[in-house]
Amino acid sequence: MDDFEMLVETIKTQIDKVKDLDEVEKIRVATLGKNGNITSLMKKISTLPQEERANFGKKVNDLKMQIEKLLSEKTSVLKAEVLKSKSLERSIDLTIPGPLRSVGKIHVINHVINECVEVFSKMGFNVVEGPEIENVYYNFEALNTPQWHPARDLHDTFYISETLLLRTHTSPVQIRTMENQKPPIRIISAGRVYRNDYDATHLPSFFQMEGLAIDRNISIADLKGTLENAIKTLLGKDKIVRFRPHYFPFTEPSVEVDVSFAGKKEWLEVLGAGMVHPNVLRNVGFDPEKWQGFAFGMGIERIAMLKYGINDIREFPRNYLKFLRLF
Ligand code: PHE
Repeated sequence: MDDFEMLVETIKTQIDKVKDLDEVEKIRVATLGKNGNITSLMKKISTLPQEERANFGKKVNDLKMQIEKLLSEKTSVLKAEVLKSKSLERSIDLTIPGPLRSVGKIHVINHVINECVEVFSKMGFNVVEGPEIENVYYNFEALNTPQWHPARDLHDTFYISETLLLRTHTSPVQIRTMENQKPPIRIISAGRVYRNDYDATHLPSFFQMEGLAIDRNISIADLKGTLENAIKTLLGKDKIVRFRPHYFPFTEPSVEVDVSFAGKKEWLEVLGAGMVHPNVLRNVGFDPEKWQGFAFGMGIERIAMLKYGINDIREFPRNYLKFLRLF
């Protein structure tokens, strides 16, 4: 082995041991750099006698090329390793189980509303909507509700201004509908209503479903038949439905409807209803001699209470997940 071969071998073992790009650079500087040993060999060429130059120069050049090749090979190997470890760091392990995602469900109130919509749709009622912030005119005046009525009291109703309030029932939708549709009319409308009440069977914000049917020759028999059929379809044929005389300014005659619960020992009022008052028809420009109708307003939470045996209406707005998951 001559000096050149030995030099190659030494540098080669050095390069083999190298573990990072910094070390490669150090070796490059030590060999091919300005003051590197290969560089100084190159410089030596010109100092040699003419006849030795060609042979020596070729050997140094070979050496230089070998070292360059070794260094560049090592550089690519190290660069590839760096890339690989970086992409491993960033990669996704498909074998790790994913996070558990719990599937939500429809809220019990919406569920009951949907069921009511289904039952009344089958009897020919269409769904309409109305605003929760209502005009005093639609909430009271147009519904023949005089100033002296307790529902209009400041203590019972959430007023926003003198003319605006949070609707106390869904009945204003009756007026809005009759202003926009010609009879015959059959509509239902569900949504939030607001009253200053709070106990086991009353909430300050609860849900009602309004119903209105206007046609020729509608009688209280239609009202009774429709409501009895709907309630028994919703709650079961075994339920007893009781019609109790009542007073509403916007219906005449008026009834409240109770349903048996707690093993038929008790009654729970589920809706108010009646034959649309002639004044209400006049207020929307319908001739009471030609058109009659019935209307009802049903408490959605009350239906849910009967359906699932819930004793306290305050469970609904608590949003306690254990409760909500029961249905
Ligand atoms: N709006 C009445 C209430 O909330 C219920 C009702 C509706 C009564 C329609 C008669 C007709 O108590």
